Amino acid sequence: MFLDHKNILITGGTGTVGKALLEKFLSYNINHIYIFSRDEQKHNAEMNKFQNHSKVSFIVGDIRNYNSIDRIMKGIHIVFHTAAMKIVRICEYNPSETFYTNIIGTQNVIKSAISNGVEKVIFTSSDKAANPTSVMGISKLYCEKLVSHANFIPNSNTIFTCVRFGNILGSRGCVLDLFINQIKTQDYITLTHPDMSRFILTKEESAELLVKSAQYAIGGEILINKMPNIRIYSLAKVLIQYLAPRFSKSPDGISIKIIDKQPSEKIHEELITLHEAERTLEFDNHYCILPTIHQERWKQYNLGQSKKISKEINSDTCSCMSEQELLNYLLKKKLI
Ligand SMILES: NC(=O)c1ccc[n+]([C@@H]2O[C@H](COP(=O)([O-])OP(=O)(O)OC[C@H]3O[C@@H](n4cnc5c(N)ncnc54)[C@H](OP(=O)(O)O)[C@@H]3O)[C@@H](O)[C@H]2O)c1
Repeated sequence: MFLDHKNILITGGTGTVGKALLEKFLSYNINHIYIFSRDEQKHNAEMNKFQNHSKVSFIVGDIRNYNSIDRIMKGIHIVFHTAAMKIVRICEYNPSETFYTNIIGTQNVIKSAISNGVEKVIFTSSDKAANPTSVMGISKLYCEKLVSHANFIPNSNTIFTCVRFGNILGSRGCVLDLFINQIKTQDYITLTHPDMSRFILTKEESAELLVKSAQYAIGGEILINKMPNIRIYSLAKVLIQYLAPRFSKSPDGISIKIIDKQPSEKIHEELITLHEAERTLEFDNHYCILPTIHQERWKQYNLGQSKKISKEINSDTCSCMSEQELLNYLLKKKLI
């Protein structure tokens, strides 16, 4: 296994994706895993779970501060950079804070990784980076550019790559948790638009993709898993039908209330824009968007099994799961 005997750093390791990565790594023959984030309470909660694991260390620090991240980078082989501000509405109202965490923080990770000779850095991006309409999406797009460019910095051997996710069901603050809580505590679910659609994945799948990307990334590319697509309205309906009886309620007693959409929120998400499609390779299970710079190196990304795509990939035109398929998915993935 390529991670054998490696030292791994997970920035944001106390978050949803970070914890899924840690869980996965415990079954590997890794030398040591460093969990890096700010809030001591989250560290404390995780430390209680992992106190018998001599291979896991919890480090309090802030990616906004170069010295804070740099003091832990020495001897690290692989960095999974998941730390970020990610809630669209919070970022929208706090653009300068988002700038410092997402953009300056990522630049600090890049600079420190290069100066400490890290082998690979994997950055977690979002489909909100594609044709962004929000501060969060813009910050992710900018980070993708920083990370992609970092791959080509002279005198550096560090491989930098980006992974773009859709909505991780079961992550903190996700729509699934909101709906479940609403069904439990009130007689309606709130939906911001009846046509809203999203690409989805589970936290385990996000960790899987990050590990695969760390293994196969050449550097500079954006890797995107092929993900199922759903109507959020279908999710609301399926959850009401399935969960209301489990909370001793009648599904008929729970309505779907359409509320105002946040102005920065998209009705449909793009996974790959039309412009990006021009330089996207399609593989069996994933897409690879080639960097906008150093076109002369593009041929190294084409491993022979790929084909070109001719149009954008978005959640409006991709087929959606039926309600039955969605219910099966939620049950199979143990999300409900
Ligand atoms: N969840 C999704 O649906 C989704 C979808 C697409 C992409 N992503 C991306 O995947 C990554 C992980 O998402 P997630 O759902 O795991 O987020 P999360 O649960 O909110 O976790 C974020 C982590 O980052 C840490 N963090 C935040 N600011 C920090 C800072 N300045 N310095 C150090 N650590 C900091 C947080 O801990 P402290 O606050 O204690 O520091 C926490 O451990 C993010 O980059 C996110 O944008 C997520």
